[in-house]
Amino acid sequence: MMKPPVSEITARTESQGFYPNWMKTLALEKTAAWIKKIEVAGDTCAWHRIVGCALLVLVVLLFLSGAFLAFYYSPVPGAAYDSVDFTLFNAPFGSIIKGVHHYAWNILLILAIFHLARTFIAGAYRKPRQLTWVSGVIILVVLPLFIITGDLLPWDQKGYWSTQVRLSIIASVPFIGDMTVDLLRGGPLTGIVALTRFYVLHILFLPGLLIVLLAAHFHFIAQHGLAERVLARPAAVNRIPFWPRVIKRWLILFIFSVALIALVSWYWPPPLGDPADPTDSTYIPKPEWWVLFLNQLVAIFRGKWAIVGTTVIPGFLAALLVTLPYLDRSSGSRLSQRKGVIIFAGVLATVIIVLSMMGYLEHFGLPHA
Ligand code: HEM
Repeated sequence: MMKPPVSEITARTESQGFYPNWMKTLALEKTAAWIKKIEVAGDTCAWHRIVGCALLVLVVLLFLSGAFLAFYYSPVPGAAYDSVDFTLFNAPFGSIIKGVHHYAWNILLILAIFHLARTFIAGAYRKPRQLTWVSGVIILVVLPLFIITGDLLPWDQKGYWSTQVRLSIIASVPFIGDMTVDLLRGGPLTGIVALTRFYVLHILFLPGLLIVLLAAHFHFIAQHGLAERVLARPAAVNRIPFWPRVIKRWLILFIFSVALIALVSWYWPPPLGDPADPTDSTYIPKPEWWVLFLNQLVAIFRGKWAIVGTTVIPGFLAALLVTLPYLDRSSGSRLSQRKGVIIFAGVLATVIIVLSMMGYLEHFGLPHA
């Protein structure tokens, strides 16, 4: 191949400056200028959209508190429990930071369901925002994987035995169940290999995946904009600068949330049960609130029907959520124009709530007066 003449190379280099353009865009100055130019809808992080912004606050809080916990944590069965115990009772602000990790996760899941319900009622999943919705549904499926991997880490009775139950449910999934359990556990028993794998998934792979999914979610939001409000109000047509207006709103929410969750953690420190005893198979773990309806399905469909509760119904619900924007082709913005889909979702939500209540009564009994 012939080399271009020296004069041409000099001309090209001069037109681009000393660095090629792609390197320049990485430079701080360029990035700052780029951020300053970003404009977003005037109601970004406003009251009626506060939940989406609060979700991002909670994700950041979980990452920060998780980094602190990792500083003291030791992923070895003989030492994991003691390291968590040390963090909780001896590390500076340990119980508050562990509490923030514990409560932020629970609030995150509640708000994610709330966010899904709001965007559903607003009809925000329909054209052109189908991919914003689909990326949200994938995030919702990934979130429980954090608790499934995180529960084992303290190596206490509840985490250890809940993991055994979950692994047996995963194993019952046809075709991929046994393989997934082998991959997660790395052997016939839940020991050091399993703990290492759960830890790496919890602090490395899943956060990485969540960051990619959130980036996709925000990319689709930026590309296709936000839907109008269902309750009639003049649409927020004005645009505002992302920096500093939205960042300011977000930071106020962040500081308020940290203060509130830290206060709750201080009053009600997060739980830590007895150390795990793998020989004590009499221990029966109580299911978490978000999994009660799935537990109930597993209890209803037994024996040769077990697959219906563990795979068919959960798989059908996930597929329904993902394909919703492609199934509902309605275009009206008023709720009365989408009666069919709203009634169907209402019935489904009622069934899930009733199953969860049945599960609650079965595992926890009636609340004491
Ligand atoms: C950690 C998880 C999530 C974060 C941080 C997040 C964040 C956000 C933010 C900041 C917005 C813009 C403001 C708003 O409308 O609230 C938004 C919009 C949206 N999100 Fe999410 N989201 C998450 C999960 C989900 C889930 C689970 C779904 C549903 C399956 C979803 C579906 C949507 C849709 C459809 C919009 C557009 C709303 C509109 O146009 O009015 N997101 N999200």
